[in-house]
Amino acid sequence: MKLIKLSKTIKKIFSNHGLSKKHASISSNAIINAELVGMHSHGLTRLMMYCKRIQKKLINPKPRIKIKKISQSISLIDANNSIGFVAADIAIKTAINSAKKTGIGLVAVKNSGHYGLSGYYVEKAVKKNLIAICFTNAPPAIAPYGAKKSLFGTNPICFGTPTNSKIPFILDTSVSMINRGKIRRAAKLGLKIPSNVALDKSGNPTTNAKKALEGVQLPIASFKGSGLAWMVDILSGVFTGGNHSGKVKDPFDDFTGPQNIGHLFILMKPNLFVGNNYNKRIKENIKTIKKMPKIKGVKEIFYPGQNKYQRYKSNLKKEIKISKNILIEIKSLLK
Ligand SMILES: NC(=O)c1ccc[n+]([C@@H]2O[C@H](COP(=O)([O-])OP(=O)(O)OC[C@H]3O[C@@H](n4cnc5c(N)ncnc54)[C@H](O)[C@@H]3O)[C@@H](O)[C@H]2O)c1
Repeated sequence: MKLIKLSKTIKKIFSNHGLSKKHASISSNAIINAELVGMHSHGLTRLMMYCKRIQKKLINPKPRIKIKKISQSISLIDANNSIGFVAADIAIKTAINSAKKTGIGLVAVKNSGHYGLSGYYVEKAVKKNLIAICFTNAPPAIAPYGAKKSLFGTNPICFGTPTNSKIPFILDTSVSMINRGKIRRAAKLGLKIPSNVALDKSGNPTTNAKKALEGVQLPIASFKGSGLAWMVDILSGVFTGGNHSGKVKDPFDDFTGPQNIGHLFILMKPNLFVGNNYNKRIKENIKTIKKMPKIKGVKEIFYPGQNKYQRYKSNLKKEIKISKNILIEIKSLLK
């Protein structure tokens, strides 16, 4: 489908579900961006889920979002269970304003929902020449190291910096071997998942996506990944006032209440300690690493974000491919 047509369609679906024109547009842009960067797990495949949660009054289509200014640099946002895209959009804009004025912007968000890709918001700050770090927690997927059941989410960690070139450095990674959205999408489309990413409910490795969803996902690097997931739960949940310790509800199959997710955004001016030398220093840093001798089969050392940027550029010129299942969902949402 052509980008313009798709954008109009998603906006219409969100507007029909009670979102304001502005909020429908923010949400549609985030979903289309996920498709363009090739993260289909966070794109159209989630549209039905967001709409179901609005219909069930678990996402508030007309939120009264409150921004409490704690200092020139620090704000707390109560998102009033808005769709996560809108809460995160306000949060990143607030953090950018603070960081531009004072050097640092620290914004916590509580009572939010699933906001899609962290990198989407971090990139907005990087484009304003800021370093950005952001965290959000997610529903149970990973077992804490030593525990039998899942409790931590795939809790992404995202870091971005300007690079003094047109391609920003953006490391945006879940702390699980793969993100849960990829497993959900595989389950929906009947695809297999890699062999080292999940266990079924009896604790055996599985490549069956449905069985993986009933079992546990594996964290990156064993207890280290479990520790990172825990840290993200503390920073996005305990610290912000959002849900934590396994209480974030799964947006796809738990309709017993809103998610009350927390997000944390930390933005800094890159010139705080080294002045305008930062530009020269980051360029030198990336150049040194990219020039390193490469192992067999590797033509280029990519920095995080480079691959997504290239996918975005090339996808922008094409129509967006939509699978049959998802087209059926879109049509049903337009009725
Ligand atoms: N909102 C939520 O609750 C939630 C939860 C989990 C994940 N997510 C999102 O899902 C996405 C993460 O998915 P993922 O963990 O599958 O990411 P991924 O494995 O696709 O990529 C992780 C990172 O590695 C980098 N990368 C990939 N290949 C590389 C290479 N060859 N060389 C150098 N760097 C490379 C990517 O640029 C990216 O920054 C993120 O955008 C994250 O924000 C969201």
